[in-house]
Amino acid sequence: MSMKKPEGRLAILLPGLGAVATTLIAGVDLIRRGQARPIGSLTQMGTARLGQRTEKRAVPIRELVPLASLDQVVFGAWDAVAEDGEQVARRSRVLEPADLEAAAEALRAIRPRPAVFDARRVPRIRANNLCPATTHRERVAALRQDIRDFKRDLEADRAVVVFMASVETLEPAPACAATLAEFEAGLDRSDPGISPTMLYAYAALSERAPFVNGTPNLSVDLPALQALARSLGVPIAGKDFKSGQTMMKTVLAPMLKARQLGLAGWFSTNILGNRDGEVLDEPQAFKSKEVTKAGVLDTILQPDLYPDLYGDFTHKVAIHYYPPRGDDKEGWDNIDIFGWLHYPMQIKVNFLCKDSILAAPLALDLALFMDLASRMGWKGIQEWLSYYFKGPMVAEGLYPEHDLFIQLSKLKNTLRAIAGEPPITHLGLEYYGDDLPLPDR
Ligand SMILES: NC(=O)c1ccc[n+]([C@@H]2O[C@H](COP(=O)([O-])OP(=O)(O)OC[C@H]3O[C@@H](n4cnc5c(N)ncnc54)[C@H](O)[C@@H]3O)[C@@H](O)[C@H]2O)c1
Repeated sequence: MSMKKPEGRLAILLPGLGAVATTLIAGVDLIRRGQARPIGSLTQMGTARLGQRTEKRAVPIRELVPLASLDQVVFGAWDAVAEDGEQVARRSRVLEPADLEAAAEALRAIRPRPAVFDARRVPRIRANNLCPATTHRERVAALRQDIRDFKRDLEADRAVVVFMASVETLEPAPACAATLAEFEAGLDRSDPGISPTMLYAYAALSERAPFVNGTPNLSVDLPALQALARSLGVPIAGKDFKSGQTMMKTVLAPMLKARQLGLAGWFSTNILGNRDGEVLDEPQAFKSKEVTKAGVLDTILQPDLYPDLYGDFTHKVAIHYYPPRGDDKEGWDNIDIFGWLHYPMQIKVNFLCKDSILAAPLALDLALFMDLASRMGWKGIQEWLSYYFKGPMVAEGLYPEHDLFIQLSKLKNTLRAIAGEPPITHLGLEYYGDDLPLPDR
């Protein structure tokens, strides 16, 4: 297998020019100009150990594998609201005034293309920048043309689509999503079960652009779109960025299991005042989020293997829209656990985070890794990027791996494999020679 070098520009195309998107664009601009460090980004700051610990070899990830550099990255976006990047960033109140001023030009340059949008699925957004197409086929054609225009106007050689538009209300997957042929017949008759997110994904894959789903919306998790990705040879990844409370959950729950401590209940609640919070205030939109947020504990704790510890715990997750806080989300977790002799204990977590500050570097890493996957000719689900998602997609028959540190090992071992380096198993017996012999077999 040969790999194309990351030559020329990479267009990162963003359905949804909101708080996360503008924080990403401003951040890349400031970092590129030496005014900030890429904190939170594994591709820019992370290292990987190679070989044995005695060798003391650790290399930056961006030197281990050939990633596009930040100087090669350009941005384009779609949004249902006709505001440029600077207006969105000002309204979103994530960035400090000095950073906003410094990145204003780069943000102003981003004028969103008209969105493929369904007001029934995102009722809280007052849309005024909509693609005029009236059928699904026309919508797909418009989005495909947009992708080609973005590449031409931005003088980009390649494009990656990172979906970060609003959460859609939870609806069952349309019956036509079972196979690609049925889905395409659904496009022909503008099946109302096919959502905008699915149309963005279909258009991106048709243009051979890798598609990342940063939201809980249904899209490339559907068999029809997975089949399209495989048949066209395009990588896909999702879903729902794992940025705040769920990240904490996927660190703390493995700790409980590692120590064989029991769980009686996990109560998680948040207050959040940004537009995402407003959209999630809609009960059916929150249901979409609840699915990815709630799924992690069962998979990590494996109640079937540990019925005494995890066979009967209560898990509650709530998000409250509270405008004064803007993007400064506050998450509380109350965790009721039990130990030796069934004695109860409690853990309290109070995470005062900034939602978009946590999510932006994840989006950047995903774009760069998906471009790498694409240049290697990898297609379909990129499970090695599970590290970034609340609801990681996996091949049929597998359960997802949610533990953050197992996900990180998987990611780094994948990078080692790409670089032709052996994986690190952490067995480590070789350091102890004859002191720790294994039994003869
Ligand atoms: N910030 C985080 O930590 C985090 C974590 C996980 C997932 N997410 C998800 O990422 C997405 C973006 O978050 P945000 O805080 O930037 O939200 P936001 O509300 O600021 O931005 C979303 C944007 O999408 C636009 N939009 C809605 N439907 C659209 C469509 N069909 N086409 C194009 N644009 C459309 C809206 O007008 C809005 O500008 C949300 O779905 C959120 O749930 C965020």
